[in-house]
Amino acid sequence: MPKDFILSAEGVTKSFDGFKAIDDLSFYLDEGELRTIIGPNGAGKSTFLDLITGKTRPDIGKIEFKGTPITKRSEYQIYRMGIGRKFQTPSVFANHTVYDNILLGLEGRRGVWSTLLFGRTSTEQRDRIYDILKTINLAHKANEQAGTLAYGQKQWLEIGMLLAQNPQLLLIDEPAAGMTDEETVKTGELILSLAGKHTIIVIEHDMVFVRQLNSKVTVLHQGHVLREGTLDEVRNDERVIEVYLGRKKNV
Ligand SMILES: Nc1ncnc2c1ncn2[C@@H]1O[C@H](COP(=O)(O)OP(=O)(O)O)[C@@H](O)[C@H]1O
Ligand SMILES: [Mg+2]
Repeated sequence: MPKDFILSAEGVTKSFDGFKAIDDLSFYLDEGELRTIIGPNGAGKSTFLDLITGKTRPDIGKIEFKGTPITKRSEYQIYRMGIGRKFQTPSVFANHTVYDNILLGLEGRRGVWSTLLFGRTSTEQRDRIYDILKTINLAHKANEQAGTLAYGQKQWLEIGMLLAQNPQLLLIDEPAAGMTDEETVKTGELILSLAGKHTIIVIEHDMVFVRQLNSKVTVLHQGHVLREGTLDEVRNDERVIEVYLGRKKNV
């Protein structure tokens, strides 16, 4: 490889019952980069995240994180290496406070109950929790039950729980889905504020949101990279137009 990428995928293929959800995919990401992946439904976007995080394994091809092959590693090992993923549906601890949710993120999934029952948090930990709460604009909700938050706020809280683990690479699948326009703009601002501190891949449909992120865009189609470039470059690509034409989401 000509240079060191934080993440690289080369010649990756993954079939489900003979259907190639990912087909000879190659993808390279620089450290600190913010990248947006778009593509029609079924293009293989979420499957690509499954492959990066070890949820599924490629049939062939290699994926490297910081120069280390990860396709044979377990989900937990990959997570420990510094890859965090946010799924589309938020899964916060509804009966715990917003503050405790971040605390639980800090501690990881292990030791959840001991943290809440016996945990003494250090000043350092508390500062870190409030830093994260400020980043996700929920400091004023610290003592409220997570279950009472609005949908968009739950999504931000889950991003905060992810941040508590301090992953180098953040994978965020359709963060704006189901959000109001105002929440979507705030989510864009949040992601932009994280860019640079973390390397980030965002999957998204909403073109207003993609424009706000103003990052390099990868268009995935039938499990393969169709085009990469700025949003304007990919929007003016004949093949991209063809793929999206007649579909409900227009580029
Ligand atoms: N675990 C699985 N078993 C069978 N088919 C799957 C599985 N995961 C994904 N697929 C199929 O792979 C294709 C790509 O899906 P997905 O990655 O979810 O697309 P996207 O996120 O781009 O909408 C779809 O046809 C989907 O049905
Ligand atoms: Mg998907």
